[in-house]
Amino acid sequence: MAEAALAVSSIEIVPSGKALGADVIGVDIKRDLSAEELGQVRQAWAEHLVLRFRGNGEVPLQKLADFSRLFGDLDRAPVASQTMGKDFAWQHPEITVISNVVVDGTPVGGLGSYEAVWHSDMTYNATPPKGSALYAVEIPPSGGDTHFANMYLAYETLPTNLKAQVEHLHCVHDASRNSAGELRMGFADITDPRHTVGAVHPVVRTHPVTGKRCLFLGRRRNAYLPGQPLEESEALLDALWAHATRPEFVWAQQWQLGDVILWDNRCTMHRRDSFDPSTRRLMYRTQITGEAVI
Ligand code: OGA
Ligand code: MN
Repeated sequence: MAEAALAVSSIEIVPSGKALGADVIGVDIKRDLSAEELGQVRQAWAEHLVLRFRGNGEVPLQKLADFSRLFGDLDRAPVASQTMGKDFAWQHPEITVISNVVVDGTPVGGLGSYEAVWHSDMTYNATPPKGSALYAVEIPPSGGDTHFANMYLAYETLPTNLKAQVEHLHCVHDASRNSAGELRMGFADITDPRHTVGAVHPVVRTHPVTGKRCLFLGRRRNAYLPGQPLEESEALLDALWAHATRPEFVWAQQWQLGDVILWDNRCTMHRRDSFDPSTRRLMYRTQITGEAVI
């Protein structure tokens, strides 16, 4: 027999059994992957949308960035997240801190301990990120789970009339608030979605890797379908959101220390449960540069 037939991969992909998500067994993100292993991981990412790499132990931030770069160029962390204390990630421009920890009166990262409502990241930009890797360093005893929803499945299962209605629609994605509902610096409060400021994207996008179509909704708050009367825009968006966040499209990540989650921001949404603010949660995140939405 050819030698290739004897080559056994050390990687195993174990699907969550839910609508998306899989564990990648046999990869510690601190080690270098062979070309074959990398190919397997990329294929698994396209197939399962969210990958979990468990048991990485302590990961130097440089290693987290190097691993993330296997999937594309990295965005620089937003400036607002670089106000953290010296012990944190300010020396790594590609790392964002997500945390409720406060040092000397200054939050070391974003999102606090609040619930983060359903969203895809930074869709108010013209080229939203391709995906992110989130690495758990400190986790609270309860709460703070991160839920992911499969937007291919949401699109494919839309009722026929709704599917036809959204086929060529575009949506304005609100730039004024983050997923914890906080008003971003320099933005006015929006009370009428017809005045929403942010990027305009197709409601149904085609994934550049899989070629499959999926819903691309961003955030519900202040979203608007340009050209529609406000009531019709609201009714259509409400119907889409009610469908897209149905429990059968969702898988929830319950964090363990050393977990790294890699999500595809183009074909999934995520939300995070709140947690007790007197407990600590500290995560480091990279963001992979995306492409125009078509
Ligand atoms: C994010 C985000 C969720 C979490 O980093 O974009 O939504 O679980 N994080 O912290
Ligand atoms: Mn997010």
